[in-house]
Amino acid sequence: MPNSALHFNVDSVRARLPGRRIDWFESLDSTMIEARRDVQPGRIVGAEEQTAGIGRHGRRWISEAGTGLYVSMVLSAKPIPVVMLALGLAAREAIAGVADLRWPNDVLLNGKKCAGVLAQLEGDTIIAGIGINVSQTEFPGDLETPATSLLLEGVTVSREDLLVALIEGVDRFTQLSADEILRQFTNASSYVSGKRVRVETGVTGLVGVTCGLDPAGFLRVREDNGTETVILAGGVRPI
Ligand code: BTN
Repeated sequence: MPNSALHFNVDSVRARLPGRRIDWFESLDSTMIEARRDVQPGRIVGAEEQTAGIGRHGRRWISEAGTGLYVSMVLSAKPIPVVMLALGLAAREAIAGVADLRWPNDVLLNGKKCAGVLAQLEGDTIIAGIGINVSQTEFPGDLETPATSLLLEGVTVSREDLLVALIEGVDRFTQLSADEILRQFTNASSYVSGKRVRVETGVTGLVGVTCGLDPAGFLRVREDNGTETVILAGGVRPI
């Protein structure tokens, strides 16, 4: 049981979002798994801690009690790449709009990851998972991308305010047209254009300079030999 001073006040969030179904749990394996049990669009599932938090590419998402925001939201389906970008925009806005966005799903403060986004198709809905590091002060040293928390970067916001802003942001950004989501992501991210990167696709890798998003929301990268590749999935790292 977490320290009661840190305990999440879900009633205050429900009071600010009347009519919204917010299912809050002390502990879950993963909010992604619980959300899949009842995919009512608009439903929010959150947990104080996750014992088996899921990250992208089969990685774990460290989810200790009381220090992060761990939520999944059930959304009406839209193309997943565009939804991922909308979720990143919503997370960035919720944490005061000062973060950078690394395609497709990383929210960075001072180059370190403070939030991540996951989207999984479930029937004709999408389960969107968002994890935000709020007040952790230590992270394992073996993470692929260095991690940070809002607290460590000087952003102070309660988890309750963060969740309200996140839900409102996800509602708003996912209603925008795909073109508008792409435009806003491009404006908010230093990674979409002119960034020299290495892309690890799992099988192979490439090095080049980013040159915008394609109409579906995938990242275009121009290699030094002039070849342009559309990145459908993979880790994008600055070099
Ligand atoms: C990433 O790898 O960057 C995505 C991380 C997504 C983590 C969130 S926390 C809430 C939801 N439940 C999970 O198990 N994962 C997502």
